Amino acid sequence: MNRPVLEGLRLNVPAYVKHARLVTWVAEVAALTEAKEVYWCDGSEAEYQRFTEQLVAAGTLQKLNPALRPDSFLARSDPSDVARVEDRTYICSAQKEDAGPTNNWMAPAEMRSLLQTGEQALFRGAMRGRTLYVVPFSMGPLGSHIAHIGIELTDSPYVAVSMRVMTRMGRKVFDVLGEDGDFVPCVHTVGAPLAAGQADVAWPCNTTKYIVHYPETREIWSYGSGYGGNALLGKKCFALRIASTMGRDQGWLAEHMLVLGVTSPAGRKYHVAAAFPSACGKTNFSMLVPPAGFEGWQVTTIGDDIAWIKPHADGRLYAINPEAGYFGVAPGTNYHTNPNCMDSLKRNVIFTNVALTDDGDIWWEGMTDTPPAHAIDWQGRDWTPAIAKETGAKAAHPNARFTVAATHNPVLDPEWDNPAGVPIDAFIFGGRRSTTVPLVTEARDWVEGVYMAATMGSETTAAAAGQQGVVRRDPFAMLPFAGYNMSDYFQHWLDLGAQLQASGAKLPKIYCVNWFRKGADGKFVWPGYGDNMRVLAWILGRVEGQADGAEHVFGTSPRYEDLRWQGLDFSREQYTSVSSIDHAAWQQEMKLHDELFRTLAYHLPAELEQTRQRIEATLAA
Ligand code: GTP
Ligand code: SPV
Ligand code: MN
Repeated sequence: MNRPVLEGLRLNVPAYVKHARLVTWVAEVAALTEAKEVYWCDGSEAEYQRFTEQLVAAGTLQKLNPALRPDSFLARSDPSDVARVEDRTYICSAQKEDAGPTNNWMAPAEMRSLLQTGEQALFRGAMRGRTLYVVPFSMGPLGSHIAHIGIELTDSPYVAVSMRVMTRMGRKVFDVLGEDGDFVPCVHTVGAPLAAGQADVAWPCNTTKYIVHYPETREIWSYGSGYGGNALLGKKCFALRIASTMGRDQGWLAEHMLVLGVTSPAGRKYHVAAAFPSACGKTNFSMLVPPAGFEGWQVTTIGDDIAWIKPHADGRLYAINPEAGYFGVAPGTNYHTNPNCMDSLKRNVIFTNVALTDDGDIWWEGMTDTPPAHAIDWQGRDWTPAIAKETGAKAAHPNARFTVAATHNPVLDPEWDNPAGVPIDAFIFGGRRSTTVPLVTEARDWVEGVYMAATMGSETTAAAAGQQGVVRRDPFAMLPFAGYNMSDYFQHWLDLGAQLQASGAKLPKIYCVNWFRKGADGKFVWPGYGDNMRVLAWILGRVEGQADGAEHVFGTSPRYEDLRWQGLDFSREQYTSVSSIDHAAWQQEMKLHDELFRTLAYHLPAELEQTRQRIEATLAA
């Protein structure tokens, strides 16, 4: 094989890389970005050690007290680079209609000119003074028929170490690729070239940001951010935006869903996939500890954020988790809300934007009842409870996160790595709604379920830059992640359901949940967390045809006596306040569904508009 050598830059291609097209692409990107050198990641433990030491020396990572938090690190991002940037995220399909009204769009040629080919193209010289890391990764078990491979070229060693935790990363990927295997090319730069002799900063990034997807050619180009979903390109960019378009073309689903296993005391095992918007409880639900009154039940985690779901020959839908780690929200996590998560975080963790305690450990709001007397906050400033009281300063950023391997989870499902996936019994969709939406509702059929998911609303969270706490429609919890026109995506769900039904298969039931109704005091009424098991148990009872409920205007919900209350003091009145259906509020809500459907009119499936009209008519009657 021809091993190109650029002028003044050796590509350092390892002997085990035999993929000429890949090498040529690396050479092109290295030339465009003028990277100082090229390093091919092998994914080894020794390499991880070396990278983290290097990151400590550069000030990006701080080593935590090994007695308290062994092999763990703290990163503080630039205060301007703390979350995904939805308004800078683009789907550059050839036709604008294919990106749809919910995505930012630019013509591919125009975007390429801006990023790659124009005289002032942003990627030109963007890696000057930096190493280009070649990060080979597999989404899904290596070599499995269900997995897909990506190669991320990045100038961020923080991204390289994070990708090792979050994906199956390393040289074995090249064995799978061989000489001509398919991969999704992912190019990432923090957009902070270094002039000769210029000192680096701890968290390089750029105020200009572009997170760009070309669905037709399945390429990802990300500029200017080092954070999470903007930069770890295997996650939202590949496993959701690009994969959703692959799924549309190939007859499968890429979803913003956790997948859990739940085993009954009788030993019967079920699998549930649940879509909640960012920072709305997927990680929590996927590691749920059944409360008092549910002895003998066990919940196990297959995935906490993304599911790839494919129909099998037996007519059922099977899900895998394409990731290998968790990039989870830290604030609010504690031994009451999520003990399994706390136990996952004992060692080998990269924390980002949490507070540093005086004894070299970490802390965040809600981690303990009593805050530390003093800490260094996520921006490196002194923090005390008194300062917090006076200024409102948070010790941890509300979107502070941990990065940890799935294998650290004490309730990891034994099937989590099974390339065949697990058969799904029920889908759950849930938003964060302080009013209107009841605790749980079962859709009467697939179309009604798709309608529920399509019209879901949720209050926005710190997981994305921008205003927080405003209700927006977030269809399928995929608003920021669908790689193509949202109405075509609805149609894909309807088509898949119709196809499975035609084959005589029993479709998973579909549910809509809301843990977030608030009382007059502004507090959550539903205890949530482990007690969500009560809702999950009702759902499984319905799957078995054993649980009762009452039918209403848009589905079936349990009455007070249909849920199991052992171990919890929750009155009929409290239940009413989380489950009541307010007529006026729903008439208002239907106006918002109508507004959404007007926005999505192009290719909106007729069944969904018919369902909306049916519900509206019933409400008016
Ligand atoms: P992404 O990783 O951003 O996709 O989000 P996620 O859905 O995995 O979010 P996560 O589980 O980390 O949710 C964190 C937030 O949800 C925290 O603010 C929690 O306190 C809150 N939360 C999770 N479960 C519940 C619940 O049952 N009730 C209430 N009230 N809050 C919850
Ligand atoms: C989300 O925002 O839904 C996340 C975090 O899971 S990130 O990877 O940053 O997108
Ligand atoms: Mn997510």
